[in-house]
Amino acid sequence: MSNEVIIACDFNSQEKTLEFLQQFKDEKPYVKIGMEVFYGNGPEIVRQIKQQGHQIFLDLKLHDIPNTVYHAMSMLAQLDVDMVNVHAAGTIEMMKAARKALDDHGSKAILLAVTQLTSTTEEAMHEELLISKSMQETVAQYALNAKMAGCDGVVCSPLEVEIVKKVCGKDFQTVTPGIRFATDSKGDQKRVTTPAIAHQLGSDYIVVGRSITKAENPVEAYRLATKQFQTGEE
Ligand code: C5P
Repeated sequence: MSNEVIIACDFNSQEKTLEFLQQFKDEKPYVKIGMEVFYGNGPEIVRQIKQQGHQIFLDLKLHDIPNTVYHAMSMLAQLDVDMVNVHAAGTIEMMKAARKALDDHGSKAILLAVTQLTSTTEEAMHEELLISKSMQETVAQYALNAKMAGCDGVVCSPLEVEIVKKVCGKDFQTVTPGIRFATDSKGDQKRVTTPAIAHQLGSDYIVVGRSITKAENPVEAYRLATKQFQTGEE
């Protein structure tokens, strides 16, 4: 278990992202760069944050035909990021294309597959996506597909870590968003837990966005999330 907190830096500009990170003087948090800032600013933001010594999870959730994913992931492989991801719903063949792109370009980035977004309820999955299995069974099957394709782990809710580890083994990484402090509101997230519960459930990494970025004191909130995640105590 790596027990690291990854901060989801969901800002709309490069300036705001860098300004936010400047508050951290004594630690270099693992940073998640998502679609908003990447699409708005391009790869330069990744290079800058990397230069400052942060590890980066580039969360672009690729989902397209295997050939397109291969070429897109080949581009990302050259950015020297530490973690990247695809949607498991893109099929085993698509995930294999992502794996091959990283390997062909000598990238050591951890490759994750998104199982079901933590904003998706079981009801929406049944009624809109027409998936009749339970959330737990669906996530377990997607995780197994990801493992067969050569992914290193999955993005899932902490509530699904146990089943993923049971099906894919304890070394298969689980990166879990949907984290809130006990006192926070859930926002648009549905399948949420606290950092302490994520520890108890066996998550390897937690992704925390608004509970840190929108906190009055983000550095304190980051330290609190880290402490709770590492000790399993609120
Ligand atoms: O602000 P909050 O803590 O909800 O942010 C969670 C982050 O994790 C967001 O950047 C979101 O895109 C990402 N994420 C997620 N659920 C997934 C995969 C990624 O919430 N299954």
